Order: sequence, then structure tokens, then C-alpha cells
Amino acid sequence: AKVIVCADAAAASRTVANMIVAAVNANPSMVLGLATGGTPTATYANIVDDYRAGKVQFKDVTSFNLDEYIGLSGTHPQSFRYFMQSELFDHIDIDPNNTFVPDGDARDPDAHAIQYEAQIAASGGIDLQLLGIGHNGHIAFNEPGASPSTRTRVVELTPSTIEKNARFFASADEVPKTAITMGIGTILEAKKILLLATGDGKAEAVRRSLQEAASEAIPASWLEQHPDVTFVLDEAAASELV
Ligand code: F6R
Repeated sequence: AKVIVCADAAAASRTVANMIVAAVNANPSMVLGLATGGTPTATYANIVDDYRAGKVQFKDVTSFNLDEYIGLSGTHPQSFRYFMQSELFDHIDIDPNNTFVPDGDARDPDAHAIQYEAQIAASGGIDLQLLGIGHNGHIAFNEPGASPSTRTRVVELTPSTIEKNARFFASADEVPKTAITMGIGTILEAKKILLLATGDGKAEAVRRSLQEAASEAIPASWLEQHPDVTFVLDEAAASELV
């Protein structure tokens, strides 16, 4: 993997925003893979700034998000659909019909997951996938133990992920226990992958992903097998690299 270390989280976020804007300008009808969470919010704010400054357009872009909680509709403030609308989609000219987030309210989540894979394939595949990383090395909601051949599917969240995400809910009890997530195999089919990690809480997961042999213990370690993956880090997230 290629590694870019920036001075701080703001600089890392701007670096990723610049890479995404450049990719869209090079291919205005590209397929973007997007992530939610605390990490990419500054990147999305930078992209909105660039859109407002006339530096980029999204009218022909298609997007696919990595994951969604099961049981939350898109109007629930903690749903990933709601996050994407409020952080990015509502502020740019992307066609709402071309923004895909798994439907947490699907009547048959297993069937919906299969359909989501088919929609990715029908779009021609993801050109550029943005990822974050969990403290336990998860990517999307592929928790430790997930194999590199996994596809979009229903998964159970680990207690540690539920606990980490409880900060966005009134209490840990309210965090959904299951989600729909792209699989590691799905993610590895993206033509290019950008992983953004900031803060010292991610340093161990980043080190193990980049410097330990790929294994199911650290889902992000499978990214080593991808030919075009770039980790964009701040100094804190890079602090354990040797
Ligand atoms: C988000 C996602 C997750 C996050 C990860 C890091 O769509 O799939 O894997 O990227 O949990 O989350 P933050 O950025 O909140 O630390």
C-alpha cells in the first residue's frame, strides 16, 4: 500500500478531498464508494466547499455507501443515509437517484444485500472507494473473522463496535445489533481504494493492517492484496508504524 502521512487530521481530510475531486474531474461519471463515521466528515465539508467554489460537479456521479444499520430508516438521524444526506448529498448536485446506501428498513435484508451487489455490478463497479478503519481493524462492518471473499450481507456488530458507536446514540441499548455491509471481497473489487485514518486511537489498527501478514484478525489487512490502495493518515494514526 501507498502511505501518505499528513501533519494533522485537517490536512489528511483535505488531501483525501483533493484526491476525490481530482478523480471526479478526470471522470465526471465515475462511481464513488463512500463511508460514514466521524473520520470523513471534514473531507465531505471540504468537498462541499469545492463544489460551492465551482471546482467540481457531481451531476453524473453515482455513489454507493459501504453499510447501513438494520432497523433504522433513512430519516433516523443516526442512519447512514441521513448522515450522507446531511454531510454531503444535500449540498452538492449529485442526482438523488444515483446515491445508493443499503436500505436499513428493507423487508428482506438478505435479499436486499444481494440486490445491492447487483446494483454495484450494473453501475460498472466502484472506481474509487473511500474507507475508514475501526479500532479493531474493521472496514465497513466487516469485523474480525470476516474472510476476504465476503460479499454484501447481513452481519452482527461486535460489542466493541456497538460501544464505540454508542456515542452517537442516547445509549448503547439503542445501537442496532445488525447491519448490511459490503463484504471485503466487494471492497477489494474497487479499482482504487483510499483509507483515511486520523487520531492515535487508530494507530494500532493502522500498523497491524500495513505491517502484519494479512489475516482475518484484522479485516483491513486484506487491503495489502489490492494493487491500488492508499492510506492517508495524520501523524497520530501513523505513530506506530515502524
Ligand atoms: C462507516 C464504516 C466504518 C467506519 C469505522 C471508523 O461507513 O463502514 O467502518 O469507517 O467504524 O469510524 P469512525 O470514522 O467514526 O472512527
